[in-house]
Amino acid sequence: MFQPDWDNPLEAAIPSPQSFQPEQQTVTDSAAVTPLLEALPPINPDDKRVVNGMTDINQLAPFKYPWAWQYFLNANKNHWTPLDINMTADVHDYHHRLTSEEKHIYENVLSYLTTSDILAMRNIGLAVMEKMSAPELQIYQARQVYEESMHTWTYQHCIETLGLDQGEIYNRYRVVPAIHRKIRIANQRLESVLSTQIDLSNRDDLEQFVMAYTFFAGVFEGCWFYNGFSPIFALQRRGLMKGTAEQLQYIMRDEVMHAAFGIRVVKQILEEEQLKLDPKAMELMWEEAEAAEQSYADYLLQEPILGYSAENHIEQFRFIANRRAKQLNQPEPFPNARNALPWLDEQASLRKEKNFFETRVTEYQTGGSLQW
Ligand SMILES: [Fe+2]
Ligand SMILES: [Fe+2]
Repeated sequence: MFQPDWDNPLEAAIPSPQSFQPEQQTVTDSAAVTPLLEALPPINPDDKRVVNGMTDINQLAPFKYPWAWQYFLNANKNHWTPLDINMTADVHDYHHRLTSEEKHIYENVLSYLTTSDILAMRNIGLAVMEKMSAPELQIYQARQVYEESMHTWTYQHCIETLGLDQGEIYNRYRVVPAIHRKIRIANQRLESVLSTQIDLSNRDDLEQFVMAYTFFAGVFEGCWFYNGFSPIFALQRRGLMKGTAEQLQYIMRDEVMHAAFGIRVVKQILEEEQLKLDPKAMELMWEEAEAAEQSYADYLLQEPILGYSAENHIEQFRFIANRRAKQLNQPEPFPNARNALPWLDEQASLRKEKNFFETRVTEYQTGGSLQW
């Protein structure tokens, strides 16, 4: 006969066969059975809205936003894990080939990215997804949450593989003001829309939400992430840290889609809710983002390395910022900014010929190329 192990708290919680008595059926129990409901009318996809929608959130199709479903399908073509990539050469490069300036750059890029990706995951999973009222939007964002966690794993994998001091690397965003500044700006945007008090039927709250999503898609993912990998790509171009760079190429592909999707959603909200982005608020957003990126670049690249400088970094930020603004149908915040790193877009393109070092990343994606 079954004898529970009473020293095991899990088994101790199981009632002994003798003590177990089926509960008496009560009136309350039978009343809890869901009665058969009357048939509901089919939903009309035209009634779907990005936010504040009143249709059935559990019914995927008919789609109102077929592009969102397509994003989900495309995202699944970029499937990988950090364990897929050989990091052996990176261990040797880091310990024997990188200069102290290059190590400083490598470590601080990882320090910034580790915290950034957690923030990106919390933003989309906790603040954005629950406010969407069409399932095809939520499904892509659910995939995005997974991808952000995969990115966090990737940095952790690099940090572990190289034997870096985890506590020191992860704490750096708290102790280095230039890294902290960018994180704080993003955290403030996130906090502004995490509140349970936010009500998107209120125009002020809706504007705040749209500005936060615009920031995350346009600045945080569209510029700071897009441009954030480039110092490591500069090392890759010289044959250094190729495993890490390959990992970051996978992440960059995801981030390009996150930024594009976010911008698409923002434009849809603006159209549906008859809203316009406030030019002054947009100007301040770009100003703040540029100032933070400038101090980050000055800290990261105190000494330029071969093929990469703080000037390259900030000029490329401005160039990409103009691109994101145009995608949002907004005026360019930094007219005349030039493409300081013409090779950067190639890193994000989903279909290209072999890259310099014949790594697997270029052939991995199985679907079509990404259209902005
Ligand atoms: Fe990410
Ligand atoms: Fe992202």
